[in-house]
Amino acid sequence: MKNYLVTGGAGFIGSNFIAYILNKYKDIYIINLDSLTYAGNMENLKSVESHNNYKFIQGDICDKGLVEDIFNEYDIDYVVNFAAESHVDRSIKNPDVFVKTNVMGTLNLLNVSKNAWADGEGFKSGKKFIQISTDEVYGSLGDTGFFKEDTPLDPHSPYSASKTSADLMVKSYFDTYKMPINITRCSNNYGPYQFPEKLIPLIINNCLNNKPIPVYGDGLNVRDWLYVEDHCSAIDMVVRRGISGEVYNIGGHNEKTNMDIINNIIEYLNKNVDDLISKNLITYVDDRKGHDKRYGIDPTKIKEELGWYPKTSFEEGIIKTIDWYLGNKQWMDNITMGSYQEYYKKMYNK
Ligand code: NAD
Ligand code: DAU
Repeated sequence: MKNYLVTGGAGFIGSNFIAYILNKYKDIYIINLDSLTYAGNMENLKSVESHNNYKFIQGDICDKGLVEDIFNEYDIDYVVNFAAESHVDRSIKNPDVFVKTNVMGTLNLLNVSKNAWADGEGFKSGKKFIQISTDEVYGSLGDTGFFKEDTPLDPHSPYSASKTSADLMVKSYFDTYKMPINITRCSNNYGPYQFPEKLIPLIINNCLNNKPIPVYGDGLNVRDWLYVEDHCSAIDMVVRRGISGEVYNIGGHNEKTNMDIINNIIEYLNKNVDDLISKNLITYVDDRKGHDKRYGIDPTKIKEELGWYPKTSFEEGIIKTIDWYLGNKQWMDNITMGSYQEYYKKMYNK
């Protein structure tokens, strides 16, 4: 039996990861620690909430006493740290909470894990801390080349700077104390349960509600898209078989400009939902400050060392994703009636 402490499991990727591993393994127990910020949503966990091998705890990863209590009650084997403030635009407006959660929260988890796992001068066997990081720590690429694990760290936004700081703390616990760790750095995810402040669900939601689609700058920035389930399978492999101390980049060579994505979704919705959904919704707005031009992952290491490969092509994944949002309008409505609505008004003055 392996006990996981998954943090941020009520968010987009964390909730997909919990469902993925509960479906895959019988001999695991998951404690999901999530403070339920605007991005955390219990509806994302409906399919697992009554599972015998699953427990939800509402709380903050910065809360030392609470995290110690969890370690005292459960013999935690793996910490998988998804909990974060994750949206670049919010970090530009309010960096402080990004440092608190992404840096100080990670440090708190590291300290409690280190104390709980200590065994003499070393650590009990079978324990590991997995930090879910991002390709944004590498900064921005020109027209050619890819991010490799040894690409110098060069974050630009307060979000990516906070994730880089957390990565360096995690690395330091391996270098200094030999605490078992891995760091994963994935490209942009898409799929079910993504909060509609992020590009793909935002486009779908705005099309369905006849709202303008805000395109930052010229719309030619490039992101490397990965279907969320492929990210989950990669994390699972890193948890089980990743060599301690190693960083693994995760991505599936799926680079698209933002305009490619927008046009693709509009065309699908125009054909399949309503022929009034059209490119007229596209609205160019001011560019994001410090907007990274291009991300592109080189996934050779995780492919060669762990045998991971993505199963879902972009063509298949984007249709699955759009169809999921069409089939789960209530989920989107519940979110957009609340915090997102206010956020959208503030951001775009609409
Ligand atoms: P998300 O914003 O959807 O979810 C974050 C979750 O963390 C929410 O449930 C929120 O309630 C919780 N949380 C926030 N602060 C907390 C705190 N102090 N204590 C406990 N819980 C807290 O994020 P996501 O898109 O699912 O991303 C998850 C992780 O993956 C993040 O660390 C992010 O940096 C990383 N990542 C995301 C992507 C992507 O494309 N979304 C790509 C690569 C890496
Ligand atoms: O690369 C991994 C990262 O991907 C993760 O670490 C982040 O948590 C995640 O939010 C995501 O960051 P991005 O900034 O790339 O994602 P976002 O969906 O915010 O934006 C994608 C691109 O679309 C980016 O170039 C900005 C642009 N954009 C975004 C929004 C929300 C627009 O043009 N208009 C918009 O309204």
